[in-house]
Amino acid sequence: MKDKFGREIDYLRISITTRCNLNCIYCGKADCEKKEQELPTGTICDIVRDFSACGIKKVRITGGEPLVRADVCDIVRGIRAIPEIETIGLTTNGVLLEQYAQPLFDAGLDSVNVSLDSTDGSTYRHLTGADVLDKVLRGIKAAQTAGLSPIRLNAVLMKGVNDDGAKDLIALAKDSPIDVRFIELMPFSGVGEDNDRRVTGDEILRRFPFLRPLDTQENATARYYTADGFQGRIGLISPVSHQFCDQCRRVRLLSDGSVKPCLAFDDSFDLTAYENDPAARQARIREIIFQKPAGHNFGGDKTTHGLNRTGG
Ligand code: 5AD
Repeated sequence: MKDKFGREIDYLRISITTRCNLNCIYCGKADCEKKEQELPTGTICDIVRDFSACGIKKVRITGGEPLVRADVCDIVRGIRAIPEIETIGLTTNGVLLEQYAQPLFDAGLDSVNVSLDSTDGSTYRHLTGADVLDKVLRGIKAAQTAGLSPIRLNAVLMKGVNDDGAKDLIALAKDSPIDVRFIELMPFSGVGEDNDRRVTGDEILRRFPFLRPLDTQENATARYYTADGFQGRIGLISPVSHQFCDQCRRVRLLSDGSVKPCLAFDDSFDLTAYENDPAARQARIREIIFQKPAGHNFGGDKTTHGLNRTGG
């Protein structure tokens, strides 16, 4: 369905937990939400079914870290059974991907985005608080072997922290059909506010002049580039320097059952009152989608939460 600004909203991101097994410096300390506060699998699937009745066709499962939920495959399987849902992706830090890639594929997952900010072990540890780079790299391999596609790697570059590793990250797109995407550091209260550290998409293009823009831009979120001899693509996601709010197609369902229409605002709308009434829940979802804000104003309006609650 369209919101009041005429944007077609067809993409739902579902944060299934706020728990996380890493503690990345730009993301914010993982909430200590108890498992009991997370929506059960069946409720998630019921809500997604109601969203699909309102025009949602594409779903992404996020966290926190979604693979810390033992029933993540059941969630994927349940969503896969909803005929209107065309694609299901998942965003993970990759720590548990090695064991989950095949079961997730078997459950019906299409694609996976893996957060990888550095290929250097000690930089990775500094950024995430854990010595698990090798595990993540094995997880990415397992995703390829399982047949998940596309596989995208997401990196947030910070000047003086990990930006000197950008070249090595780009190299990962050379010999495999993997997309490596650089996401601009977004400012949230308490995290990511170090604006001087942000590396913009345009700055990456200046540093790597061999990147050539691709004609086919599949959506407004990422600008894609390639280079001679590359199998994968390089993506630039620039929410701060190149706002794409006017083309935003997404809404978010949080792990407590509330709906968040825009990442950059704290507003979220409870759906728990409609537990046994799909028609009323759908009507509420339509209202929430219709009222989605025009756009964010990073640096102006502040949100109190980092992406640990919303999964990006
Ligand atoms: N700015 C930009 N990206 C962020 N992510 C988390 N916090 C931030 C931030 N402040 C990214 C992670 C992950 C995705 C879910 O969100 O790197 O890839």
